[in-house]
Amino acid sequence: MSDEVEQLNSRGELRHLINLGGLDRAHLEEIIELATRYLTPVGAPAPRDDILRGRTVANLFFEPSTRTRASFELAAKRLHADVLNLDVNTSSRAKGESIMDTIYTLQAMQVDIFVVRDASTGVPARIAQQVAPHVCVLNAGESDVSHPTQGLLDLMTIQRHKGDVRDVCVAVVGDIKHSRVARSAYQALSKFGVGELRLVGPPGLLPEEDEFPGAKRATEVETGIRDADVVMALRVQRERFAELGDIPDPQEYHRRYGLTEERLALARRDAIVMHPGPMNRGVEIEGAVADGPQSVIQEQVTHGLAVRMAVLALIHRHIGREARA
Ligand code: CP
Repeated sequence: MSDEVEQLNSRGELRHLINLGGLDRAHLEEIIELATRYLTPVGAPAPRDDILRGRTVANLFFEPSTRTRASFELAAKRLHADVLNLDVNTSSRAKGESIMDTIYTLQAMQVDIFVVRDASTGVPARIAQQVAPHVCVLNAGESDVSHPTQGLLDLMTIQRHKGDVRDVCVAVVGDIKHSRVARSAYQALSKFGVGELRLVGPPGLLPEEDEFPGAKRATEVETGIRDADVVMALRVQRERFAELGDIPDPQEYHRRYGLTEERLALARRDAIVMHPGPMNRGVEIEGAVADGPQSVIQEQVTHGLAVRMAVLALIHRHIGREARA
C-alpha cells in the first residue's frame, strides 16, 4: 500500500493532516489565520470553542512526547471534545495487537479523530487510508519524515516576528538529517518563498544532497548563522542512528556547534532563536541563549496549541458533513 493519502475531502476541505507538502499555501494560511484567533493575552482565560462537542479525539503516541501530546489534549478539551489518551505501553499492542486492530477497536467506540505519533515512516498515512469515511487522522510526528503541526507553528512564529518570509534568512543548526521538524519547516517555508534557508551542522548530520532543494549548506556554525534573521537549533536525535561515526560527543559537539551567546552575536541583532524542544541545554544550545531576550521558544509552544486547536476545528467540517450524509 502506498504512503500517499488525499488530505482533503471532495469539497477541498481539510480531512487528514499527514504532511505539508501535499497542501496548498491557502490551506496553511487558513490554519494559521484561525490559530491566530485562538491566541489570547498572557494571563487571560484560555480560549474555548464548542465546535467539537460530542466528538471524540484519541491520542496514540508510540514515541515519547511532551509538547505535542499535551497540546493536542488541551486543544481537544478546549474545543469540548471527549479525549482518550491511550497508554500504549499497557495497551493490547504489548500483547501483539496490530496498530490497525487498535484503530478499528477505538473506531468502534466512536472515536472521530486519531492523533498519531510513530517511529516508522508511513504509519499515519496507512491509518488514514483505512479508517471510516468520517474519521480524520492527524500526524503528530512520523519518523524523521514529517511533523506538520510543528512546521505550521514554526512558520506562524517566524511570520509573527518577521512578517513576510520572502525577506527572511533562516539558519537551521544541528541534526537536520534525522529531523522531521526540519523537513516540515522546509515544506512550510518553501511554500511562502522563504528568502534564504541555510542548513548548518556536522557533515554527518546534514541531509542527502538531493534533499531540501534550494537550501544552502554550511559545516561551520559561524558561517552558517552570520546575519541570519532566525536561528533554529535542533537536538541531535541519538535515538535515530546506531553508530556515532564522526559525530562528536556532547561536550565536543557543544564546543563546535552549540548555539552560544558569542555565536548568536554573529546573527542579526534582532534575530530570533527557536528550538522545537525537547532541548539538551549545554549541547546544541546554551541555557543563557534558550532563556535569553532573543528566544521565542516558549512562544513556539503557545503557537503549537493554537495551531492544533485550529486544525481540529477545521477538520470538524468534514466529520460533520460525513456524519449527516
Ligand atoms: N517538538 C516536539 O515535537 O516536542 P515533543 O516531542 O515534546 O512533542
